[in-house]
Amino acid sequence: MNVLRIENIQAYYQSTLYGIARNVRAVDGVSLDLHADEIYGIAGESSCGKTTLIKVMFGAVEPPLTIVGGKVLYQLDGNHIDVTQADAETLRQLRWKQVSYILQGSMSLLNPVRKIRKTFWDFTKAHEPTIEPAKFEATTRGHLDRLGLPAEVLDSYPHQLSGGMKQRVAIALATIFQPKVILADEPTTALDVVVQRGVLQLLRRIQQETKNTLVIVTHDMGIHANIAHRVGIMYAGRLVEEGRVREIFGEPLHPYTRHLIQSLPAIGDKSERQGIPGAPPNLADPPPGCRFHPRCPYAKPICSIEAPQLTTIADGRRIACFLAAKENANVS
Ligand SMILES: Nc1ncnc2c1ncn2[C@@H]1O[C@H](COP(=O)(O)OP(=O)(O)OP(=O)(O)O)[C@@H](O)[C@H]1O
Ligand code: SF4
Ligand SMILES: [Mg+2]
Repeated sequence: MNVLRIENIQAYYQSTLYGIARNVRAVDGVSLDLHADEIYGIAGESSCGKTTLIKVMFGAVEPPLTIVGGKVLYQLDGNHIDVTQADAETLRQLRWKQVSYILQGSMSLLNPVRKIRKTFWDFTKAHEPTIEPAKFEATTRGHLDRLGLPAEVLDSYPHQLSGGMKQRVAIALATIFQPKVILADEPTTALDVVVQRGVLQLLRRIQQETKNTLVIVTHDMGIHANIAHRVGIMYAGRLVEEGRVREIFGEPLHPYTRHLIQSLPAIGDKSERQGIPGAPPNLADPPPGCRFHPRCPYAKPICSIEAPQLTTIADGRRIACFLAAKENANVS
């Protein structure tokens, strides 16, 4: 069952430089479906548009970011809401209670001069103005307990907590209303490996218990292999490959996906991994055709002229590459 359908969304950062209009095409024609009870990973190098796509999904689009086209359609509890068209009140009802957002670097957003209890209270009160203190205390403690967090954190200031604990608290805060969709942007970046594991376990536990939809954004392919059910690979503002995690890692088809996976260190392998030669394009002036063509070892003349469309090549498998789509067509 779909909970979200994104149709050909284009979200650009629009500005003017020396009187000349400048569009950074951060998300440029992305279409994807999110299902109930799944973990969907979004992968890709820095600046490929991952955070921008999450902002669009959350309806957090503010200038200079502008929706230029497309739809972001939620289907929750029988209601259909297109966040690109929704009014402020509809968005207010949707955000945090139905769809929540663990921001990139969210743990640093905990107010340093407030005890965690006060942060939870302000947040809860903003969405449930009539809540009584006793009900708040019981709900918050119950939620922390379910997530395996000690109730004592409520009496702490953020600086008294470790980085990992702060991130868990930020996750607990974002999930206090049992949202149907959780958007987590780089939730483990800047944490050491052992702490990362604990945070990922917490996210997995929340998803398994509530059977909601977790979207996890990270450039770390190891995390996707570990936690995601399906993965979408973004390159330069576009989705270039999508599939179930086993297929993506077992048989990556897009040359960019192959590079991302090859750059993962194997267990026990201490040799230097090969990065992808070259750099992602400037999204204010992306190359024509396939945006990966300047870096692609398999590029053909057509690749610099025509943009390959994201095409379904098998059940649940989509790819935007002339070569891979053709190879696959020959096989089947
Ligand atoms: N406020 C802004 N104004 C103009 N351009 C922006 C703004 N924010 C982001 N961008 C540009 O939009 C593009 C996509 O950025 P985005 O933050 O979505 O990428 P990302 O994949 O999340 O990167 P990272 O992995 O580094 O977090 C980049 O080229 C970035 O420079
Ligand atoms: S479409 Fe062409 S340039 Fe793009 S990834 Fe495929 S082979 Fe490479
Ligand atoms: Mg980002």
